[in-house]
Amino acid sequence: MQVIRKLPVSLPRDRGTIGFVPTMGYLHEGHLSLIRRCRSECDVTVMSIFVNPLQFGPGEDYDTYPRDEKRDLEMAEKAGVDYVFMPDVQTMYPRKPLTKVSVSKVTERLCGASRPGHFDGVATVVTKLFNLIRPDRAYFGLKDAQQVAVIRQMVDDLNIPVTIVPCPTVRESDGLALSSRNVRLSPEERKQAPVLYESLRLAERRAAEPGMTVGQLKSLITEHIGTAPLAVIDYVEVARFPSLETPEDGVPLSEELANGPLLAALAVKFGQTRLIDNILLGERA
Ligand code: PAJ
Repeated sequence: MQVIRKLPVSLPRDRGTIGFVPTMGYLHEGHLSLIRRCRSECDVTVMSIFVNPLQFGPGEDYDTYPRDEKRDLEMAEKAGVDYVFMPDVQTMYPRKPLTKVSVSKVTERLCGASRPGHFDGVATVVTKLFNLIRPDRAYFGLKDAQQVAVIRQMVDDLNIPVTIVPCPTVRESDGLALSSRNVRLSPEERKQAPVLYESLRLAERRAAEPGMTVGQLKSLITEHIGTAPLAVIDYVEVARFPSLETPEDGVPLSEELANGPLLAALAVKFGQTRLIDNILLGERA
């Protein structure tokens, strides 16, 4: 495995398809699942590890975002990554950029509403990474379904020559979606955190009930999360996927699902730790 810290990023362009897995490090099984998928579909696997300051708002956890370079490199090596691109901030942003990539509409709801500017930061750094790595395929987790929708829109709109591959969410045995931020949960918060996925599974089970509306489904999720005393809801939303338009509360789910899949998505704070999760409803295989 080769570690690249400085520009240019020189990769073997004659060894077949290049697959790319962008991350912010503090790797876990979710990241490793993307690597495995990438390795199974591509000839060369490149991973980036970069905690991107542009996508953190003021007062968010950029400074305290968990980092462990040594452990990440060991895990990447073991997972069979060929190249790790691990730049520092100075390498990625040698001077204040005057250009940004900003995707409208899909960024307005869900996490975009609670984290203004976040998706501009993501779209901008992912564009830079795509330009540096020039991958054929890039792998993203559906744990961040809105991120997948934003990147797909951006790649389509700008004709960026890369195939975006969405990958399923990897979970703990109790259902909690793996996240680098989970280590910040106190033992009591960790005990209550599975309520998120439970509420989404409940929604999935009840979505087919006759007469169920979008608003009722959101209420079910909200009420179930309310059973965890330490959970503070940021948002609970039901949105069309991938447009992320939000139907009116009174609309029957059956009517919506006849037109395409819906994303039930939530963000919930446990103390200082903000967790997100989602489930796709009515997705046809
Ligand atoms: P990060 O949060 O490190 O996630 C890197 C990739 O791993 C993303 O595509 C994310 O969706 C995926 N991932 C995280 N947890 C997962 C899980 N439990 N199951 C499956 N996939 C999971 O997302 C980012 O970094 C950044 O925004 C980035 C795209 C690197 C741009 O800075």
